[in-house]
Amino acid sequence: MFAVCFVSTFSVCPATTTGLYCNQTCPQNCLNGLCNRYTARCDACANDWWGANCASVCGNCKGDKCNQDTGACASGCDDGYYSLTCTTPCRYSGCQACDNLGECVSCKQGKYDTLCSLNCSDKCHGQRTDACTALGRMESVVKASAFLVTSDQHARSDAMATAV
Ligand SMILES: *[C@@H]1O[C@H](CO)[C@@H](O)[C@H](O)[C@H]1NC(C)=O
Ligand SMILES: *[C@@H]1O[C@H](CO)[C@@H](O)[C@H](O)[C@H]1NC(C)=O
Repeated sequence: MFAVCFVSTFSVCPATTTGLYCNQTCPQNCLNGLCNRYTARCDACANDWWGANCASVCGNCKGDKCNQDTGACASGCDDGYYSLTCTTPCRYSGCQACDNLGECVSCKQGKYDTLCSLNCSDKCHGQRTDACTALGRMESVVKASAFLVTSDQHARSDAMATAV
């Protein structure tokens, strides 16, 4: 009798149980199965869940962790999403990652320009990375043009040498 009375007035139930008689199970997504005895609110949520009962799914959060009360992602969004809860797709389908306004900060492979809406030249295909620069130029073309600038400077200094 004494033991029963003691159990029913003690404020913490054995792990994973809740209720006045500690004979109910905490919500299934509580971290380590722990919850408040009287409200059944989870002490914390397992990865990818939020809410008092951890019954709501986090958005596309980096690391799969979001705030238990708001669902706001703890450390930014996975590629392709933005907003506090990382539930909004980037504004343009070619974005690899976007900022908190949804504007592209990097493009998916094969795309370029600020909206990542333009296709890299077909001539980029067959290259190892299938990539082009922000201006749509193949990496090798950029290197080639850097070489041309250098050659051009040589040409000009040659011309000046000739003029002198
Ligand atoms: C918990 O125990 C109480 C008291 O014995 C009982 O009335 C109640 O139905 C039980 N609840 C569950 C979910 O088993
Ligand atoms: C880019 O390439 C895709 C897939 O090959 C094609 O559907 C699309 O029309 C192209 N867009 C432009 C602007 O050329």
